[in-house]
Amino acid sequence: MNFQTDIFEQYDKKWALLTAGNKEKFNTMTISWGGLGTLWGKPVANVYVRTTRYTHEFIDNSDYFTISFFSDEYKKTLAVLGSKSGRDMDKMKDSGLVPKQLEHSMTFEEAEVTLVCKKLFKQTLDVKNMPEDIRTQYYENQPDHDMYIGEVVEII
Ligand SMILES: Cc1cc2nc3c(=O)[nH]c(=O)nc-3n(C[C@H](O)[C@H](O)[C@H](O)COP(=O)(O)O)c2cc1C
Repeated sequence: MNFQTDIFEQYDKKWALLTAGNKEKFNTMTISWGGLGTLWGKPVANVYVRTTRYTHEFIDNSDYFTISFFSDEYKKTLAVLGSKSGRDMDKMKDSGLVPKQLEHSMTFEEAEVTLVCKKLFKQTLDVKNMPEDIRTQYYENQPDHDMYIGEVVEII
């Protein structure tokens, strides 16, 4: 298992797709916030998902999720998957990406790297514990973020 990257660039500049579910029913959304590190002696990835996202339901109902990274040519596709909701339309079909079933979750044929994550932990980011400027900017009129931490069990 090997994945070398500049973590500060990887999410913020390159973005990713966060996906949960199975071939029959799954959903994906673009993310640009996240982290990679170590917790409880395990390699972990963490993501932050507003409670209103359709993908949120899929992560809650799944034991695994994936984080898929793409080359720059897919940036426009990721922009669309990050602005439309799977609740309202079949955004996967429009995206042109080819879903790929894994043992525990889903990714896409076009992904350069996929982190397969086993869900370990979920917690709502408590706005009371944030600096006021961040609370005002990100949460005044918007729903909370749930943080999910997953053990990275496979890198494809
Ligand atoms: C570049 C980019 C980054 C995003 N990052 C996040 C994120 O980290 N967390 C989040 O909850 N939403 C994020 N979003 C918004 C979701 O991708 C967007 O609301 C999406 O339409 C949700 O789809 P869904 O309702 O099908 O799950 C981002 C959107 C874009 C374009």
